Amino acid sequence: MKRIADKLHREGKRIALVPTMGYFHEGHLSLIRKARKVADAVIVSIFVNPTQFGPNEDFEHYPRDFERDRRLARELGTDYIFGPDVKEMYPAGYRTYVEVEELSKKLCGMSRRTHFRGVTTVVLKLFEITKADVAVFGWKDAQQFLIIRKMARDLNLGVKLIGVPTVRERDGLAMSSRNTYLSPEERCDAVAIRNSLRHAKAMIKKRIISAPKILAAMRKVIGAAKSARIDYVEIVDVDNLEPLQAVKKGKTLIAAAVFIGGTRLIDNIRV
Ligand code: PAF
Repeated sequence: MKRIADKLHREGKRIALVPTMGYFHEGHLSLIRKARKVADAVIVSIFVNPTQFGPNEDFEHYPRDFERDRRLARELGTDYIFGPDVKEMYPAGYRTYVEVEELSKKLCGMSRRTHFRGVTTVVLKLFEITKADVAVFGWKDAQQFLIIRKMARDLNLGVKLIGVPTVRERDGLAMSSRNTYLSPEERCDAVAIRNSLRHAKAMIKKRIISAPKILAAMRKVIGAAKSARIDYVEIVDVDNLEPLQAVKKGKTLIAAAVFIGGTRLIDNIRV
């Protein structure tokens, strides 16, 4: 991969990387389409990264379909797929991790203590290996995007990051590979997450900007879904993820993580 990336740069090509864990849905495809528009060569990485899963999480069960992903990526004009195996990325004796302090302990970091350390470590490795000039991520994982942006700034990586809006199912549920875990009843309940964010938006439109009030209303919407259990709902500053008492125009992230049955789903809006 590194030899190919060097050759692409020698030919004067700009490289875009789309880092993924595979099992593509429309959200991934929108990232690839964006990459195709902004670069001369598109590399899609497919790697289910063990270091970002906790000991009791779904690494083993995470859905995988490499052949289908490869076909879809090719159809959208991907030039290279980088699909290493775990031993190549983390050979025996691997000991080096990258961590963005503070940001990675908030929101999802509260219940997934080592998740973002795994994400930043693998993403930095992927940037190095593919020599990406541009990398494309989804805003669905808003915290991930902000943490990677901070890492890129702090470590002078020189890679340009592009965030792409969340792609949704017809009823508003944010697309996620984990949606495949939901039973039909849970799938109906899952839309409560999006509905709670919609409700927040509607309140803000009516000039209700008190965070406690909005959060209470969101909890009520989610609580009405039988299989839902809230991990967190928060209204935070989009730069430092610190909780806000009131919505700040152009600066606010409203984020939720909710267990639907045994499946933990996340969603957010920026206002
Ligand atoms: O968003 C994801 O799928 C993963 O966290 C990423 C960025 C590919 C790192 O493994």
